Amino acid sequence: MRLLLLAALFSCSCVRGGCEPKIVNIGAVLSQKRYEQVFKDAVTQANQVYGREKFKLTAISVTHKANAIQMALSVCEDLISSQVYAILVSHPPQSNDHLTPTPVSYTAGFYRIPVVGLTTRMSIYSDKSIHLSFLRTVPPYSHQAHVWFDMMREFRWNHIILIVSDDHEGRAAQKRLETLLEERETKNKKRNYENQDQLSYDNKRGPKAEKVLQFNQETNLTALLLEAKELEARVIILSASEEDAAAVYKTARILNMIGSGYVWLVGEREMSGKALSEAPDGLIGLQLINGKNESAHISDAVAVVAQSIQELFEKENITEPPRGCVGNTNIWKTGPLFKRVLMSSKYPEGLTGRVEFNDDGDRKYAHYSILNYQKSRLIQVGIYNGTQVVMNKQRKIIWPGGETERPRGFQMSTRLKIVTIHQEPFVYVKPTTLEGTCKEEYTPNGVLIKKVICTGPNETIPGNPSGTFILSLCFSTSAVWRYILYIHTYICSRYLYMYECSKCDLTGHVSLCGSLF
Ligand SMILES: *[C@@H]1O[C@H](CO)[C@@H](O)[C@H](O)[C@H]1NC(C)=O
Ligand SMILES: *[C@@H]1O[C@H](CO)[C@@H](O)[C@H](O)[C@H]1NC(C)=O
Ligand SMILES: *[C@@H]1O[C@H](CO)[C@@H](O)[C@H](O)[C@H]1NC(C)=O
Ligand SMILES: *[C@@H]1O[C@H](CO)[C@@H](O)[C@H](O)[C@H]1NC(C)=O
Ligand SMILES: *[C@@H]1O[C@H](CO)[C@@H](O)[C@H](O)[C@H]1NC(C)=O
Repeated sequence: MRLLLLAALFSCSCVRGGCEPKIVNIGAVLSQKRYEQVFKDAVTQANQVYGREKFKLTAISVTHKANAIQMALSVCEDLISSQVYAILVSHPPQSNDHLTPTPVSYTAGFYRIPVVGLTTRMSIYSDKSIHLSFLRTVPPYSHQAHVWFDMMREFRWNHIILIVSDDHEGRAAQKRLETLLEERETKNKKRNYENQDQLSYDNKRGPKAEKVLQFNQETNLTALLLEAKELEARVIILSASEEDAAAVYKTARILNMIGSGYVWLVGEREMSGKALSEAPDGLIGLQLINGKNESAHISDAVAVVAQSIQELFEKENITEPPRGCVGNTNIWKTGPLFKRVLMSSKYPEGLTGRVEFNDDGDRKYAHYSILNYQKSRLIQVGIYNGTQVVMNKQRKIIWPGGETERPRGFQMSTRLKIVTIHQEPFVYVKPTTLEGTCKEEYTPNGVLIKKVICTGPNETIPGNPSGTFILSLCFSTSAVWRYILYIHTYICSRYLYMYECSKCDLTGHVSLCGSLF
């Protein structure tokens, strides 16, 4: 049978007036036997649309093997030996560390035969120094950061606490979210410097991570979450495996961190299987739409491959893929070109939506369901349409603690730390009385000057070596207040936050409100 196929490969001979279509083999490693028929059907369908008299696709598939070595051998013996142009690979069922698409990616990647992942979400496959011929019709978990970022915009949460596992997946999520936040901050800064006459300068600044907390197997989760509890932000974004997420939820429950005021925003793993059984009510999570629908991804991947082969054959000097691995160490010369063609392909009418890839070969414009955990049920409360969060107005979110109103996402700290500079006539620094209290003083028009006791490092006030000193804040107009605020903001731009400035008394003697770090 295989011999026949191979014979067919070389039979693109012209017989009486027409060329026989060239046979092009497409390989697949699928999670279950039943998907092999789906794959064959998809190839048959693609043949009716693409190629025509030029080429005809043939499907060759296997299922995942019990271990990596058998899998690599099977790729060589069952697929590469048939000169496949590309290999589709699904995520193996009940995957663990020993059973992943990695052997397929390594083996095919060695020859530069493109591998199209169907349902593999781990971020490590975006690393092109390891998986150099890998692209996929799903996005990696770390792309969920785009949805979190847009949720922050939608719900006007400016500060978040990011809790991530100290592994590749956690770091990828952190990097992605931080990049988005930094881009936003840069844009906002530009805007704000142009418009200095804005009291709530700081409120207009973009969202940011107040703290990133990393954990691993040795981390004391109680200590980690207590650290989070001390912070002002109350929006917690978690990236963790199912097991780790379950442990975090358990600890958070003990520490009363799943009640009113808190927001727990997670991805897909943190809301599946073991994690779901410990998930707190009010949790918001994501689910890739069609993410687990292997059939739909097979169809879309086959269509993309067929379309790309059509484009590839328009180009010059196309060589045949290698035949088998034994004694064969040459890469497929056309492989890198074919991968580029695949990566730049656009297939707008996929069963899973618009199929396009980014520079890492990851799916762009993925759609997610936004789910809310309500009384042990997952309720879809919105979607991410590939570019933006669109909440479903009909389905109310029930937040932690049974709240129905949007949590504001932070708590006002009861311990304020104020940073200012000693600049008369706005900020006076005066020594305390011998008892360590403030000396009463009045303005020329008889108003008591409000003073604040400040303890700080001695060297902050040159020429004033006493341990305790008074920071006297004496402002007369809101304009001055604003001026002071800008000085602060300018100096401490990264560390300064202002909250709820409407509470400030802007006319008389100002009590600083908010928290300035
Ligand atoms: C974990 O941290 C908490 C709070 O800091 C502490 O009370 C507890 O003893 C720690 N547990 C272990 C096993 O170290
Ligand atoms: C998978 O996708 C196909 C094609 O869109 C659809 O017919 C099928 O119902 C989906 N299956 C599931 C379980 O969603
Ligand atoms: C194809 O090969 C020919 C002969 O080696 C060469 O002249 C030509 O530039 C090649 N075309 C491309 C697009 O590489
Ligand atoms: C997503 O939704 C927004 C807002 O409704 C809309 O402007 C945008 O065009 C939508 N994008 C896509 C890809 O549908
Ligand atoms: C400040 O200086 C005084 C006197 O030199 C010293 O006793 C005190 O400990 C210092 N305080 C701090 C916070 O360094």
